[in-house]
Amino acid sequence: MAVQNGTEFEGQVTVASRIVDTLSSGLYHAPSACLKELINNSYDADAKTVRVYVKPDADRIVIEDDGVGFSRKEFQSHFDRVSESHKRDSGQTTSGGRKKIGKIGIGFIASNELCETLEIYTTKKGSSDLLCIVMNFDEMKKPIEQRRSKDGTVVKADYTGRIEKAEKDEQYTQLHLLRVRGEARNILASARSAANPEKQGLTLYGLLTSDVRDALADPKLKSWQQFDLYSKTMLEIALNIPVQYHEDWLTKKRGKQIQKFEKWCETTRFSVFYDNTELRKPVVFRPPTDRVLVEEFDFKGKAVSASGYFYVQHGTITPRELQGLLIRIRGAAVGDYDPSFLGFSATEASLLQRWVSCEVWADDKLEDAMNIDRRTLREVHPAYVELRSVIHKRLRAVLKAARSKIYEAGSTEKKETRTKNAEASLKQAIVEHVSQISPSTEKTVAKMWDELSKDKGAMVRAMKSRSIPEIYQIVVEVAEETLSASDARKFIRKLTEKLID
Ligand SMILES: Nc1ncnc2c1ncn2[C@@H]1O[C@H](COP(=O)(O)OP(=O)(O)O)[C@@H](O)[C@H]1O
Ligand SMILES: [Mg+2]
Repeated sequence: MAVQNGTEFEGQVTVASRIVDTLSSGLYHAPSACLKELINNSYDADAKTVRVYVKPDADRIVIEDDGVGFSRKEFQSHFDRVSESHKRDSGQTTSGGRKKIGKIGIGFIASNELCETLEIYTTKKGSSDLLCIVMNFDEMKKPIEQRRSKDGTVVKADYTGRIEKAEKDEQYTQLHLLRVRGEARNILASARSAANPEKQGLTLYGLLTSDVRDALADPKLKSWQQFDLYSKTMLEIALNIPVQYHEDWLTKKRGKQIQKFEKWCETTRFSVFYDNTELRKPVVFRPPTDRVLVEEFDFKGKAVSASGYFYVQHGTITPRELQGLLIRIRGAAVGDYDPSFLGFSATEASLLQRWVSCEVWADDKLEDAMNIDRRTLREVHPAYVELRSVIHKRLRAVLKAARSKIYEAGSTEKKETRTKNAEASLKQAIVEHVSQISPSTEKTVAKMWDELSKDKGAMVRAMKSRSIPEIYQIVVEVAEETLSASDARKFIRKLTEKLID
């Protein structure tokens, strides 16, 4: 090891209290939630490109970026005592102009949920120091009493570090997650179906971005659960982080708000590769019919402002992970899509709600309402309360529009095909009936019928001039005139049943 004198160091990572210890160990519900924290740190470091390596077996996970890196001093100021982030001490935006996502200061250390050893290699532009740190989380296996010191801090990990030589104009950060924990490894690299561990799932491993898009657009894809756990993790990460949208993710009908956000994602120029597949937002809509509604909004409230869109199609949105509402703050998602639309009343809409997908880009004021798991919002926070009420109002209007433009438009169409089918079977019935009486008149009758139905105007007038009860009356009379009494009764009963049905 090429170690120079005076460049070696070691120490302990401690957290301020038992609470922070708990929070920084059991906070995230899935490996994807931990990994996206590390990727969002790269974003905050102004990285343009992040590469994540997971396969073949997630035994070692590497995350490397070309961001600004950190110095030994910065490392120690954060990790000698993890409790709060210093990220925003120097302002809300990075020198590259990005709004910083990190705020709470426990995302990085939460990697102990994934692995037992973490190696860090980082260097800053203008410095010839390459900081190499090995962090061990073995401390975590000891009972808390043995990890707690007199001042109340709790030891989380210990580390050894050394400074090596780096090129002065280089900047990067590499994280190597070693001794990845079994449970995490089983998810991260798994080829087993998320829905059924007995089976292999569909996989996105090794695909080109455009093939990923096509897989997501496949109407047979009902849920991400059909993928293997590896791919599902990849999609969960992609949904969260501020990468671009896929090409052709939405119909051409898009207005100012969507274009603004698409543009924002593009100009941010944040590319993330997951085992060589470039990640895009896994939001791809392929409407089953051309009846689609895209309603955009942009509201400025007292406690919060937000813009976004409602996408509505004729039929349930698939995959179902896209049903509901997704909130983004500073481009990073808060949790997943919420199919309840922040608790929209179920009595107001049940079926149609599953036809709607909505993205909300909220401003910084909502950040304050975010819980530290970055998954949920505090429901009593004024920003949340205001957002919820605005969203519900919009959703109500959107559902109303959807009902008339999409749903009922659909039932008119259905009515038309039903009328056509009824016409055809009526013609067949008449022709058959006539041919039994007199085969020679069959053709004449068929021709007469066709001429009558060609004149749509006359048909419509005839339909409109009689009410349903009148038509019913006529049918009943004809039945009574032509059938035996018992057949007529049978016929009328059946007819009435059908009408009521
Ligand atoms: N990829 C990275 N590049 C540069 N600095 C990083 C990177 N990852 C983490 N850091 C540094 O480590 C600190 C701790 O990260 P984290 O625990 O996620 O907290 P937060 O993001 O809320 O500040 C960050 O504030 C940053 O200074
Ligand atoms: Mg962070």
